[in-house]
Amino acid sequence: MKRTGAVIAAAGLSSRMGAFKPLLPFGEFSVAGHLVAMLKAEHADPIAVVTGFRGEELELELADSGVLLIRNEHYETSEMMDSLRLGFGAIAELCDQILVMPVDVPAVTGATVRRVMECDSPIVRTKSMDRYGHPVKLDREMVKLAMAYQGDDGLRGFLKGQKELVRDVVVYDEGSFTDADTREEYRRLLALNGSRGKGYPDGEALKWLLQTSGMPETVRRHSEAVSRKALDMAVRLGRSGICLNLELVRSAALLHDIGKGQPDHARRGAEILSRSGYPLAAEIVRQHHDLDCIPPKADETLVVYLADKLVQGEREVSLEERFERSRIKCAGSREAMEHFERRRLQARRALQVWENSIAI
Ligand SMILES: [Fe+2]
Repeated sequence: MKRTGAVIAAAGLSSRMGAFKPLLPFGEFSVAGHLVAMLKAEHADPIAVVTGFRGEELELELADSGVLLIRNEHYETSEMMDSLRLGFGAIAELCDQILVMPVDVPAVTGATVRRVMECDSPIVRTKSMDRYGHPVKLDREMVKLAMAYQGDDGLRGFLKGQKELVRDVVVYDEGSFTDADTREEYRRLLALNGSRGKGYPDGEALKWLLQTSGMPETVRRHSEAVSRKALDMAVRLGRSGICLNLELVRSAALLHDIGKGQPDHARRGAEILSRSGYPLAAEIVRQHHDLDCIPPKADETLVVYLADKLVQGEREVSLEERFERSRIKCAGSREAMEHFERRRLQARRALQVWENSIAI
């Protein structure tokens, strides 16, 4: 297994923020502390943090974290690439590849870091639509070249010159693309962390995922119809005293087909959401096609599962109508027919649970 180190550039002046970014609160830690803890959890070792502006405070904050602290004394007149060079110089001989992280991108998930680490290419970076994010990974050879690079535009300029060696890993992790240069961006990061804490994307985090998912228009409209149906069903349950998390129902329903178009789209959708830091939404999406088991009482998973069966395209349909279409497709194959019957039976039993639940 390759030994992966990390260099965190934290020497900058935080001038647009008006506060010292690395020490702003983030979750249980500071911005810098959170990033270090996440990288350690993913076994990045060694981790070099290059400090500069208010270096003593940051070094004190990280003193017990086991990272290597390197001071960029010329932080006022140097660029981020100069800090990276200092970090590379300190750890390049100790590892096979190095992750590059600016300190103000703390919300990137461990799953994203793992994917970048495991991608076998001289240079790896994350991508979403036409944006590139962090971490950027360089193998030992590329680290050497980056250290010698004297061209314009820092790391970005270096990457441009190595285009053919760069592998882009598509991720749906907003944290990989969100830094905290301004107070507004910092507020956004806190909101993102709040969504992660809930286990499903809401508000701006949900909007971001929907916008960057590349969902075709027909799928988006279907998902909106499923969301309306699921919320309607959840509200009716509420009247019978079964109070579901409506935000979770809406979020999972809008995202249930995020993996559509790929093999085993329910599992793929769950994987996307789980890697983005949303395990509750992921679990519902994983089961939206077939439930693991029928719950005794209606819950969020059952409601999204059923709503998807009761909406064809954008139109509401009965279970009978919905399954009649599938039956035609399965005719001719005994195996497909048996599978179809199992799914139809499960949907009927799930509907029965919902009807019993609202009859209480
Ligand atoms: Fe669907």
